Amino acid sequence: MDSICTIRSLSQDDWNMYRALRLKALEESPEAFLTTLTEAQNRPEREWRERLTSLDPKWDLPLIAWVGEIPAGMAWGYVTRDRKGEGQLLQMWVDPRFRGRGIGAGLVRRVVDWARSLGLLSLSLGVSETQPEARRLYERCGFRSAGNAEQQPPGSGHRITLMSLALHPGDTRDN
Ligand SMILES: CC(C)(COP(=O)(O)OP(=O)(O)OC[C@H]1O[C@@H](n2cnc3c(N)ncnc32)[C@H](O)[C@@H]1OP(=O)(O)O)[C@@H](O)C(=O)NCCC(=O)NCCS
Repeated sequence: MDSICTIRSLSQDDWNMYRALRLKALEESPEAFLTTLTEAQNRPEREWRERLTSLDPKWDLPLIAWVGEIPAGMAWGYVTRDRKGEGQLLQMWVDPRFRGRGIGAGLVRRVVDWARSLGLLSLSLGVSETQPEARRLYERCGFRSAGNAEQQPPGSGHRITLMSLALHPGDTRDN
């Protein structure tokens, strides 16, 4: 990863910056996410605040990658509440100005390390067929396809492939 890039987790006070970056991601890469820009823009301020104020580090890891003082990318690690031992990698996005420098791979690694530290058994994600560079990145980080692409939501024409990474507690190798 680029030496001037640092990855930090978000604190409760960062909700405004999180909102700005998430809206930027949805505007720049609308096909990469199930949430639409309009949905996110219509979300009341209270909900954006609550996303961060209600955080429990045992369940959520919201990350921002900084290039100097610029928030250049984001990702969110999430423990699936109703499936024991499973986590998800969500909201991955890197500002186009900073792509191809390993920032995406750095964000994935941070979420994988966090999931391992919690003793999770697997991490999963959904990647749209419109995002081959994201899929390649996940494959390079050890994720494998966990089924055929499916329309999400059904009938939308938006085809998503589920990918999964098996984690082995205590194994600290780089995937
Ligand atoms: C997917 C994404 C997060 C990757 O971020 P990144 O910081 O570019 O990731 P990395 O630098 O670690 O790896 C990117 C790959 O693209 C290559 N690349 C080189 N220059 C690039 C550029 N200007 N733009 C994009 N990719 C480039 C990298 O070498 C690497 O290739 P490889 O996987 O074949 O080795 C980023 O492309 C993105 O935000 N895409 C739009 C949103 C998206 O698809 N999110 C995923 C939702 S599931």
